[in-house]
Amino acid sequence: MTHAKDNFIAWLKSAHAMEEQSSAMLMAQTRRLENYPDLKARMMHHLEETRVHAADLQELLNRLSGAPSPLKDIAGRIAATVHGIPGMLVSDEVVKSAADAYAFEHLEIATYRTLLTAADELGEDEASAVLERILGEEIAMASWLEENLDPIARIFLMRDERDLQAKR
Ligand SMILES: [Fe+2]
Repeated sequence: MTHAKDNFIAWLKSAHAMEEQSSAMLMAQTRRLENYPDLKARMMHHLEETRVHAADLQELLNRLSGAPSPLKDIAGRIAATVHGIPGMLVSDEVVKSAADAYAFEHLEIATYRTLLTAADELGEDEASAVLERILGEEIAMASWLEENLDPIARIFLMRDERDLQAKR
C-alpha cells in the first residue's frame, strides 16, 4: 500500500492548499459585503470552519509524512488572490461571489469524498473521522448556498432596480 499512502498524502496536501485558497476567498468576500448580512454571517462562520479544516489537514500530514509542502500552499494563496479579483470588479459582485462559493464547496465535497476512499483503502480510521466531519461542514455550506442563491439574487435585483447599492 506504499503507492496508496503516497497518493493519500499528495491528496491531503492538495486539500490543504484548497482550504488555504478557500480561506483567502472567504476573507476577501466577507470583507466587502455590506448589504447581505445573512450571507456575510454564514461566510464568516464557514471561514472559521475552513481555518480549522486547514489545521486538521496539517495535523494529519504531520502524523503521516511531515509538514505540508509550503510551495503548494503559496500556489493556493496566489490562485485565491487571482480568483478573487474578477468577481469583485463586476456590477453583480454578490451574485458572482455566491455562485463561485457554491461551485467551490462542490470541489471541496468531491475532494473529501476521494480522500475518504483513500483513507478507507488504507484503513486510516482516525483520518476518516476527521475527513467525515469536514465533509459534513462542506455539505452544510453548499446546502445553505443552494437555498440562498434565490433570495440573494432577488435582493440584488430589487436593490439594483431601486438604484440602491446592490453589488455588495
Ligand atoms: Fe468549504
